[in-house]
Amino acid sequence: QKDGYASFMLKEIAEQPKAVADTLLGRIDEAGSLTLDEVRIPAAELREIDKVVIVACGTAFHAGLIAKYAIEHWTRIPCEVELASEFRYRDPILDPRSLVIAISQSGETMDTLMALRHAREQGSRVLAICNTNGSTIPRESDAVLYTHAGPEVAVASTKAFLTQLVACYLVALYLGQVRGTKWGDEIRAVVRDLARISGAVDQVLGTMEPVRELARSLAGKDTVLFLGRHVGYPVALEGALKLKELAYMHAEGFAAGELKHGPIALIEQDVPVVVVVPSPRGRSLLHDKIVSNIQEIRARGARTIVIAEEGDATVEPYADHLIRIPATPTLLQPLVATVPLQVFACELATARGNEVDQPRNLAKSVTVE
Ligand code: M6R
Repeated sequence: QKDGYASFMLKEIAEQPKAVADTLLGRIDEAGSLTLDEVRIPAAELREIDKVVIVACGTAFHAGLIAKYAIEHWTRIPCEVELASEFRYRDPILDPRSLVIAISQSGETMDTLMALRHAREQGSRVLAICNTNGSTIPRESDAVLYTHAGPEVAVASTKAFLTQLVACYLVALYLGQVRGTKWGDEIRAVVRDLARISGAVDQVLGTMEPVRELARSLAGKDTVLFLGRHVGYPVALEGALKLKELAYMHAEGFAAGELKHGPIALIEQDVPVVVVVPSPRGRSLLHDKIVSNIQEIRARGARTIVIAEEGDATVEPYADHLIRIPATPTLLQPLVATVPLQVFACELATARGNEVDQPRNLAKSVTVE
């Protein structure tokens, strides 16, 4: 079943372009409109929504964090994202005009299930984003948007994450379409880019050999840090989570703007720091800020591993290692920026002699607290 790959994880990483394309299939028509018939919540009700709350765990939570940027930017609906394990035990402010989105690959995660029940008790509509047909979370939700990643066997989530992102973008764009908010040339261009994004994921996969080499060279390290801003921040969190669960290393993701509030004290000679750089086009202020963050950490001895868009020359003088990704609109960048981090974690874990498909102490589906 591994089709010649050394692990399910490697196979699933390689399947990502198809998983992304399959999740988009039939959901964007030729005119660039979204047809999400599965979202059975009537358009009139979607127009009334005044708050979106996303609940999820682990990697799915990181997809939710990225979704917040897209939902708020494209729809102007306030969006909160919360760990399901926290949400279920508090007293959140919800009502029938809140849309709760529960994201789960397995559809069986206990905390996410309890969080959605908690939301429904307060009259909120729940939309599930799920990869497993007929599992409990979609069955208990008002509507479901399935991700079409196919079965994910490796404990570490890879292709499911990318398809969760695609589903989140589709929901955000659909809400924008239904409500008419900000729907215009910018959104039309994003829809076009999204429809083509699986090609960009494929392109990244074709350039991963230097990332593997770099990962092997870092197998003896104790710590790797990850920095990002805007949607690059959840990408940094996801990169750190992958490394923790697979390589059993100390790995932490930070918002780059927080460096001076504490994390910069961790920077010492030769500590590897992965930095996710936003596109220099569009939000150029963000880009400039992160370039100065790279300079700051390098001045303190960090070994900088920079993930930046093709053609972005400004980062070159400050990157000890440069990983190129195709140019994509900022909000979609996580779809390409996450891939090198998955490959990096998988290769580093293998170099440390770890079993990547079944890391110690972890289960694929967490059906208990
Ligand atoms: O099945 P779910 O998406 O609800 O699972 C949530 C988390 O348990 C899962 O994403 C976990 O964090 C992964 N092992 C991360 O790679």
